[in-house]
Amino acid sequence: MNHQAYLDSAAATRAERMAWWHEARFGMFVHWGLYAQLGRHEWVMNRERIPVAEYAQLAATWKPKERPARDWARLAKEAGMQYMVLTTKHHEGFCLWDTAQTDYNAVRQGPGRDLVAEYVDACHEFGLRVGFYYSLMDWHHPDGARCAQDEAARRRFLDFTQGCVRELCTKYGQLDVLWYDVSWPLRSPEAWESHEMNAMARELQPGIIINNRSQLDEDFGTPEEHINAADEGRAWEACMTFNGSWGYMPSAIDWHSGRRVVQMLQEVSAGQGNLLLNIGPKPDGAVPEEAYPRLEAVGRWVSANGEAMFGQVDRVHGRMEWLPTGSWTLKGHTGYYWCQRWPGHTLAIGGLQTPVRRISYLATGAEIAFEQSESRLVLRGLPAANPDPEVGITVLKFEFDGEPRQRLGAGCVLLD
Ligand code: GLC
Repeated sequence: MNHQAYLDSAAATRAERMAWWHEARFGMFVHWGLYAQLGRHEWVMNRERIPVAEYAQLAATWKPKERPARDWARLAKEAGMQYMVLTTKHHEGFCLWDTAQTDYNAVRQGPGRDLVAEYVDACHEFGLRVGFYYSLMDWHHPDGARCAQDEAARRRFLDFTQGCVRELCTKYGQLDVLWYDVSWPLRSPEAWESHEMNAMARELQPGIIINNRSQLDEDFGTPEEHINAADEGRAWEACMTFNGSWGYMPSAIDWHSGRRVVQMLQEVSAGQGNLLLNIGPKPDGAVPEEAYPRLEAVGRWVSANGEAMFGQVDRVHGRMEWLPTGSWTLKGHTGYYWCQRWPGHTLAIGGLQTPVRRISYLATGAEIAFEQSESRLVLRGLPAANPDPEVGITVLKFEFDGEPRQRLGAGCVLLD
């Protein structure tokens, strides 16, 4: 198959393959590897110029506790997440699964077991879709850098890479997401044989969803550490650290609050994107303590308000306006107003062009009295303080009489 035919065939099945993913909205990224033992970021080997032989000693000393993936999956489920993506091999080159491509793997080294198999079991146990992250860049493989200059090395490295991807696509049952990372040092998808590699993945896993980091666009874009919607029609997933580091790093103390995570969920939902929020487990696999209260609060919020984000959402941009007290998400004729700066007893919203039939609190269903005039809608009798005590984001459900539209412009009189 030529390159264009390959892209066309992937595009042809895209809507079907990605239906669950678009509705899932929220996933957990897990960065776990030898670097957790050092606790100085997953780039520590490169940033501190640790020699390969010295770094490789971490393979023998890594002794994770029993089945930590169950802790991750339980917490992901509790937080309202629907899928997970685990680093099966990060840039350090250590493989977390039982691979025949290298001895530098979790079965032959310290852990003595297949950590990817445990992860997949945990995803199944908790009803989460399964994603594998795989770093193309490899600091440990002898050909990982010289493949850029030496043709024989490139061949060996591609055989290794394709062997790894083949194993990941065959050994663990259904794989839902293949999440490539850093395609250094080869400079084109042809040099990586990306389209052949991804065609193989699709043949082995017909429903698979592939990200855009093998130098091909594939199924979805991956804005990192920022939430910016892709162009309409293009799927995207924002991947975000929880505290500034992907790998376990106890000195990284700037944890996002539960409130901030809920705001992120609004931002992705408004742009029809997904949020992949990271945890970096400790060397033994335990989830850092800081993640628990935050994700538990998010989970309570999502279980009361999930309707505002799960399922098929519509784009907000260009249809609704920014407001000082909150932001919208949209689904068909329904608008969800995520009110995060609670105004007190009265809330006024300008510029709604669609008649509103009913307004209620999403979390309780209780109806709210309102008056709608030509350009102003006023809700009265609201409580003095935000009714959502935990994250301070109350969703007001607006049932419109048609597709919601709001128009304000910059002046106080609309100029057409
Ligand atoms: C970057 C980093 C990497 C991290 C990834 C997650 O590419 O190199 O450490 O795994 O982003 O998106």
